[in-house]
Amino acid sequence: MHFQVITLFPEMIESAMNTSIIGRAVGNGIIKLDTVNLKEFSQNSYGSVDDYTYGGGAGMLMQCEPVFQAYQAALSKVENGKRPPRVVYTTPQGKVFDEETAADLAQEDDVIFLCGHYEGIDERVLEEIVTDNLSIGDYVLTGGELPSLVMMDAVSRLVDGVLNNKESAETESFNNGLLEYPQYTRPKEWHEKTVPDILLSGDHKKIEKWRMQQAIHRTAERRPDLYAEWLEQRGIY
Ligand code: ADE
Repeated sequence: MHFQVITLFPEMIESAMNTSIIGRAVGNGIIKLDTVNLKEFSQNSYGSVDDYTYGGGAGMLMQCEPVFQAYQAALSKVENGKRPPRVVYTTPQGKVFDEETAADLAQEDDVIFLCGHYEGIDERVLEEIVTDNLSIGDYVLTGGELPSLVMMDAVSRLVDGVLNNKESAETESFNNGLLEYPQYTRPKEWHEKTVPDILLSGDHKKIEKWRMQQAIHRTAERRPDLYAEWLEQRGIY
């Protein structure tokens, strides 16, 4: 998987992507990351890439040409030239990113992320280059770097070889549509709270059943929307 990120803040992307599990995948080449610094494509001597909006209104807008040239620079580094790369624009106006979108993007060889700042980007260049408008939720952030990082993390962990066996086993539960059951480690007693007896019983069948019940209960309580979907998938209405 080759990610490219068009951004005003490449250091923010690089530092996060070189950390922890994703950092390990970048280090061993399973994930490849290139950043494209928008400032390098400024069209003036001040090094700016934004201007006032036509029609008035507060705030500045990122201009077409620096964004387009940065995109062309990214295109020239695409690994698998057989198909045009997906270009994700991170915006609160996009479709809300979820596990299904992550799985879809994980099938690609190349994904380019475009991070907006200020009041956004001139619509004309977005029309020309963006294939996917994606949001990470109904709130507004100051820029697209954090959403891009969130999406790259979720996509990366679905790429073969990024997680080791232990890590993938640990995070499988969301895939069957339920939230994770509660888990405990040593000590057996802490603040007068004890670990459920069944987990100490050594009876793996019973433990599995208990965990499933807990996962169902927790999902129904915390995420009724997910629970309804889970029931529907099983033909229970
Ligand atoms: N840019 C600003 N806010 C955002 C959000 N919630 N999701 C994606 N991109 C954004």
